[in-house]
Amino acid sequence: MSAHPFDLLTVDQLRRTGSLKWSEYRGSLGAWVAEMDFGTAPGVIAAAQETLVNGLIGYAPTQLVHDMQQATAGWLENRFEWKIDPDQVRPMSSVMTALDAAIMHFSPRHRPDAPLVLLTPAYMPFISTAERFGRDSIEVAMVPTQSGWEIDWNALKQALAGGALLVLVNPHNPIGKVYSREELLAISELVEASGSRVFVDEVHSPLVFDGASHVPYATVSPAAAAHSVTSVAATKAFNLPGLKCAQLVLTNDADRIAWERVGGVAEHGAANVGLAATTAAYRTGTGWLDGVIGYLDESRMLLLDIIQEHLPQVRYLPPQGTYLAWLDVSRLALDPGPAQFFLKEAQVALINGTACGSGGKGFVRLNFATPRPVLGGMIHRMGAAVDGCDNKDVTDPEFAQ
Ligand SMILES: Cc1ncc(COP(=O)(O)O)c(C=O)c1O
Repeated sequence: MSAHPFDLLTVDQLRRTGSLKWSEYRGSLGAWVAEMDFGTAPGVIAAAQETLVNGLIGYAPTQLVHDMQQATAGWLENRFEWKIDPDQVRPMSSVMTALDAAIMHFSPRHRPDAPLVLLTPAYMPFISTAERFGRDSIEVAMVPTQSGWEIDWNALKQALAGGALLVLVNPHNPIGKVYSREELLAISELVEASGSRVFVDEVHSPLVFDGASHVPYATVSPAAAAHSVTSVAATKAFNLPGLKCAQLVLTNDADRIAWERVGGVAEHGAANVGLAATTAAYRTGTGWLDGVIGYLDESRMLLLDIIQEHLPQVRYLPPQGTYLAWLDVSRLALDPGPAQFFLKEAQVALINGTACGSGGKGFVRLNFATPRPVLGGMIHRMGAAVDGCDNKDVTDPEFAQ
């Protein structure tokens, strides 16, 4: 069988890109920040280039924004059967900016200083977000089971009591869980009963594997649509967070009216090149994306085998979505922390689980959106480091198909 084109990408080529993932920890293999090593869809590159060639380097023309709104609405309907009016899609520079806006403008009306509730382990910057706004943060730890992760319903109910802003990330970075319709409905009932609101982060929603399917939170009931604001973006699936364009989807008329008054500056943060790239991704990128998902799907399963062979003490449950593997390395008892250990001893750059809040101790997050031979090389090195051997191979050719 001939090699997949992604398998042929070398570590030298990846380093030459100068990307954050491959330049920050010099000499190491990059598996930390959520960037993919596969570039982006050809239509996205063409659209971004055209923006510059045509001199669209001033403020965002209305047509560029309209196109992005239309394309997003079309994408959400085609991919997830979520029907919205394009005007409900608001341009933002990033998902983090959308969360900031939700905290400032869409906290429960009766409790403007409401705490943030996070289901942990959580995406790292969310852990310190509440503090930036002088708010409290309540962490509700997810419960691991043999086959996945469950919500601690009692703890969530308590955390929401009195009204809170729940941050719901689906698919859930870093554990890779894709929430079922039933779970989303149960969440929405607790939110509704407590007068809380929800910021829904669905940035990883296009990246869902066979066996799971993404249900947008706002579609599960009219109440869920009314008490939530959602952020989506093409940035994770099409690998373009540096182009600065995300979307805030407002599914409540009162929020839309409020946003007209307060949202202008945040909307101006979206970049022209990002708007054009997003439109192209949503309109023309499906074929490229499906190829990437197929590759990632195989990688997440192959990772099971290679971990079993080289790091048998490590527990890993393949994620249902995202390209992030959440590895339980607690049995290895690594000092001073597992990510520090693997960086120093194996030159593999990972994220320490403790950066993701409660439940993260003894875990690392590994980004497997990398060529499979490189992924194999990473796990080889990590296994050798645990065994006290020196192995600086950067790739494992056997891991290529
Ligand atoms: C769940 C989640 N939310 C938000 C972000 C950040 O998105 P942005 O760069 O658009 O702020 C990331 C980045 O990896 C993420 O994984």
